[in-house]
Formats: sequence, C-alpha cells, structure tokens
Amino acid sequence: MSASILDGKAFAATIRGKVATHVAGLKADHGLTPGLAVVLVGEDPASQVYVRSKGKLTTEVGMKSVTHALQADTSQADLLALIDDLNGDETIHGILVQLPLPAHLNEDLVITAIDPAKDVDGFHISNVGLLATGQKSMVPCTPLGCLMLLRDHLGALSGLDAVVIGRSNIVGKPMAQLLLGDSCTVTIAHSRTRDLAQVVARADIVVAAVGRPEMVPGDWIKPGATVIDVGINRIDAPEKGTGKTRLVGDVDFASVAGVAGAITPVPGGVGPMTIACLLANTVTACCRANGLAEPKGLTA
Ligand code: GUN
Repeated sequence: MSASILDGKAFAATIRGKVATHVAGLKADHGLTPGLAVVLVGEDPASQVYVRSKGKLTTEVGMKSVTHALQADTSQADLLALIDDLNGDETIHGILVQLPLPAHLNEDLVITAIDPAKDVDGFHISNVGLLATGQKSMVPCTPLGCLMLLRDHLGALSGLDAVVIGRSNIVGKPMAQLLLGDSCTVTIAHSRTRDLAQVVARADIVVAAVGRPEMVPGDWIKPGATVIDVGINRIDAPEKGTGKTRLVGDVDFASVAGVAGAITPVPGGVGPMTIACLLANTVTACCRANGLAEPKGLTA
C-alpha cells in the first residue's frame, strides 16, 4: 500500500474540539447555548443509530440537544406543526429532519418548511441556491466534511481536476459546487456516464458517492490521486463466520490504496466528519442568528 490514510475519525475529533471551545466562549461571553433539534419519524434502525449518536455528540460539545422521535404514521400536518414550533424556538439554532422519511410524507415540503437560517443540513432550496451562486449559506454536512479533509491534506485545491461520482442532492451536487468554489475543474459522473474509468483516470481528486460497494477499482485511479470514499455499504463477510457482515465503501480499498496518494478508509473516514460538520453548522447558525463572528475553519 502506498497511499496515506486520511484519518477522518481523528480529524472529526479535532473539529469537535474546536466546536466545544467556541460553544464555551459563546456561553461565557454572551450567555448563549447553541441548540440542535433532531426529528426522527418512524423506527428505521440505521436512522435510530445515527440520531442517538448525533444527540450524544451534541451534548458532549456543550450544546443543547433535543430529539423528537415521532411515530411512523405521523401526519404531514403534525410534522409541519412541529417544524413551525422549532422555527420559532429561540433556544434552537439548528433543525435536522432525519431522512429518509416514511413514504406518505413529502420530503421536499418538509425541508422547505424549515427556516433556512436553521437548516443545518443545507438542504433547503434557499441554501442550495446560495451555495450554487457562491454566497454565504448553510452547507450540507457530508460534502463539507469531504472538503475539510481535502483542504487539510492538499492545501489549496485551485486548478485540480476533480471527479465526483454520484449526483445526489445530499452529496454529489453540493460536493461539486464546493469543489468549484475552490476553483477545481469539476466533472460529475453518474450511472449514465460513458467510459467512467477514463473519466476517473483524469482526476487529481475522486469523490465516490454512489452507494455501490467497492465499485471503483485501483486501475481507474491516477497514481497519486486523493480519493474520498463517501460510501457506507454493508456486505456479507463469510470469512468472519456464517451470517457475518462488514462495512465497505464505494471504492475497492485494497487496490485503490496501492495507487492513490491518499484515501479515506471506511469506516473511520468521511462518516465521523458528517456529524462533526453538523455540530459546526449549528454553532455557525447560532453565531449568525445573534450577529456574532463565525468560528474560523468550521465553514466552507
Ligand atoms: N440521512 C442520511 N444522511 C443524512 C443527512 O446528512 N441528513 C439528514 N437529515 N438525513 C440523512
């Protein structure tokens, strides 16, 4: 293996440390405690794990954490009423509605109901438009975490060729906007892209966010490229015993690590950065709501 490992777990701990320092300052100097409300509808086990983890880490950095766990059959009207309450609650600076929502709820309408200033996911159409036009916005947490890892490892990204594989609203599209904002030459590849191997082979930076286990092999990668693996896929692992599973990314780690200059592992790469950036966004939202200077190094 030649690639250096980009340790997202350690970097995320550093970010949370900075957030905690800023939170302590807001309390001491302004009597302010940033507050994050997380709304979970239904009992999806993976979502329950994420939401618990968000609550724990929010409290750990000294912020107020509120979790609203709603029944799977909650009506759209009741969910919108809760969001309206949270929009008006001065102790809450960030609102996150865990996705996916049950099928009877309209995700677009729900996200649009969140006050854009409290939209710490950066999914509201206003924040999407602000990011696309290079204005101050709330930036989606996973791409923000990827950008922080890239800047930390590479320094300036200006002029680099970046290929983002995947065009989701949560990762692919905002990732491309952020890389463009840092003056990369950006290609968004997706399931209909022709000659994906050749497209990826041009890239100094590869961000894989497709949700297909180990899809990107080492022989697609330009030697020395920086590879960010956003995928978290659970696959069977018979070598660990009957019925056992393991987590893998969208990148074939073993072969890519032999060619790339740097790579994020799965787990322990991008995953921990997402929650750290959620906490960072909540502090940023709190500062903006109160007309205070934003923490440095915690926004795009
Ligand atoms: N589900 C999976 N990822 C995310 C995320 O970043 N935000 C929200 N709200 N739900 C998710």
